[in-house]
Amino acid sequence: MGLTGILPKLHKDAQLFIMTLTKTDIEAAVAILKAGGVVGLPTETVYGLAGDASNPTAIARIYAAKKRPADNPLIVHIESAEKLTQWACDIPKEAYILAEAFWPGPLTLILKKQPWVQDAVTAGQPTVGLRVPSHPVALAVLKAFGGGLAAPSANLFTEVSPTHARAVKEALGDRVELVLEGGDCEVGLESTILDLSGDAPQILRPGMISVEAIEAVLGCKVLTRPQNNIKVPGQYRVHYAPHTKVVWVQAEALNTDCEAVITHTEGLSLPQGVLEYHLSSDPKIYAQKIYRILRELDVMGLKQIGIEVLPPTLEWDAIRDRLNKAASRSET
Ligand code: TXA
Ligand code: MG
Repeated sequence: MGLTGILPKLHKDAQLFIMTLTKTDIEAAVAILKAGGVVGLPTETVYGLAGDASNPTAIARIYAAKKRPADNPLIVHIESAEKLTQWACDIPKEAYILAEAFWPGPLTLILKKQPWVQDAVTAGQPTVGLRVPSHPVALAVLKAFGGGLAAPSANLFTEVSPTHARAVKEALGDRVELVLEGGDCEVGLESTILDLSGDAPQILRPGMISVEAIEAVLGCKVLTRPQNNIKVPGQYRVHYAPHTKVVWVQAEALNTDCEAVITHTEGLSLPQGVLEYHLSSDPKIYAQKIYRILRELDVMGLKQIGIEVLPPTLEWDAIRDRLNKAASRSET
């Protein structure tokens, strides 16, 4: 049986997977989730490792599969903003305004948690991260499952997030029971995280929904630097990182120590023998592709990967944030 009727809406890549994914696959995923298992789930940002957010066994399996430290909280994925009150309390009006503008989509809101929400999900914090993903497969699973799904990116801790189904299997192997095929992720970088639990809205992780877009919708200033001591995503200095050394290189002085360089400027002349991976100068398209390229380069056994320094404009902020973290491994 096809997916017609259970897919809430199709995005442009839907044709890629609709032929292979069936209602039975969604049912199989839901059966695993209800039994406390974990499933690789496509979202529009990156693939997630999903488990029942109200089941401690499932949460423990997520942390174990990712080798993730217990002090790093998980995002709970919900089917619609109507479910917010199940998970959060003292919800400010800004949450509903942003949900209306950006959900389903790549924005996570940090809100005060309901007392029943497990410490294992929130890493003992009084807040919970919530998001409605827009990928039709994620929404179909959420709808059929009925509850909230905790889903961190489906990679090993500190490594590069997967943006296609095979990368989940490569990263997690037998620790994930089923990976649902959902094509290539449309956004390619993890969601923007906005903390609404304090006195003023504050960005904890930049993403492709920009600070400016959020400010325009809220009509107020949004803080961008963490000023309190709650867990900040990507606080670990090395994160989103391949194993191969990654360095920034200037277009005018392309580092000859790099065997491969990821560029975005057309027509650069690279030293002989250096592989060029040319990505778009449009940050949206660059973001879609960068993690896949980093993964591909990472298995080539290179000594060093160069990344052409990005334009200093705001729309590149989220990509710069991730690649700065990827380059941090090289300094250790
Ligand atoms: O796009 C995404 O957000 C993807 C997809 C799968 O939804 N998920 C994702 O999850 O990137 P993860 O676990 O890899 O990153 C979520 C970040 C963590 O670094 C965590 O510190 C932060 O969200 N986080 C979760 N709950 C939080 C909370 N209550 N307060 C502060 N930060 C929180
Ligand atoms: Mg992650």
